[in-house]
Amino acid sequence: MVLIRACLVEDIPLNGMRTVSILDRAILIANIEGKFYAMDGTCSHQFANLSFGQRDKYIIECPRHGARYDIRTGKVVQNLGPEHRVNDLRAYRVEIVDGCLHIDM
Ligand code: FES
Repeated sequence: MVLIRACLVEDIPLNGMRTVSILDRAILIANIEGKFYAMDGTCSHQFANLSFGQRDKYIIECPRHGARYDIRTGKVVQNLGPEHRVNDLRAYRVEIVDGCLHIDM
């Protein structure tokens, strides 16, 4: 594993979230009650940008068809149904180093 700088801590305000590009991957970072979480930022179904979705605490809802993921684990917590399955995403450890968020890739 290697820590890669993503952005400044203040780039993601309290209870905000955004997508950053790291090693050609979209990574969604959320600041939930002052703690940072990260997972893949693209839905596994039809590749919607999850930063445009709704967040309910740790659950991120895809803005396109409504699949839901837990950002702590990347796991699907609500799928679409038998004909349109979504797959788990990868979650990443976030570390703060010198005022910057780093993602453990
Ligand atoms: S693109 Fe995310 S659920 Fe379809």
